[in-house]
Amino acid sequence: MKKIVTLSFATLLAIFGMTTGQASEAPANAEATNQAQAETAVAEASQAQAKKEPIVQDSAQVKKLIAMYPQLVARIAPVGKVCFDGEECDINITVLAPAVEGVARPGDQLYKAICATCHDAGLVGAPKIGTSDWTARIAKGKTTLYDHAINGFNAMPARGGADISDDEVKNAVDYIITQSQ
Ligand code: HEC
Repeated sequence: MKKIVTLSFATLLAIFGMTTGQASEAPANAEATNQAQAETAVAEASQAQAKKEPIVQDSAQVKKLIAMYPQLVARIAPVGKVCFDGEECDINITVLAPAVEGVARPGDQLYKAICATCHDAGLVGAPKIGTSDWTARIAKGKTTLYDHAINGFNAMPARGGADISDDEVKNAVDYIITQSQ
């Protein structure tokens, strides 16, 4: 009886030893798992950060704005451009050379300085340069187009709203036609 108890005690000790052995191993494993998890979390966090960074600095914001306000951007495009701090911003303002008595300025310069405001983007229903918008209009004949450009036609202001000569309007019309055929 006593022997059995001793054996049992020994067994108990053995079991206890095993348990404590396992128990002392367990925290080590848990620690390792925790560390691995922590490392993964850190790696994920830095990855997320790496993914985030370029969006802030990228012109993606500009793209987003353009996507959100296409009409607004088209409307201001001839005059201005959406720019962000720290980004390069090139705005081209076309300045027309001053008029010289008896000399009609070339059509491309007149177009870029005056007509492009509407005819580049198709503002207020203006036929867009370089597109099939002009096919039917060109078919009307130059005389009609000259007349409408000089005297105005619906939303098309006389002389594009500028103080230019008849010959200069004609040069600009010719330029539009050659660019749109
Ligand atoms: C304020 C905007 C605006 C400006 C600036 C402008 N146009 Fe126009 N233009 C229009 C619109 C809008 C139409 C279409 C009118 C319609 O068909 O109802 C048009 C139409 C025309 C037509 C076709 C007319 C027809 O009979 O189909 C010609 C040619 C033309 N424009 C030439 C010019 C020239 C040249 C300039 C620059 C000197 C100019 N436009 C500047 C808005 C503009």
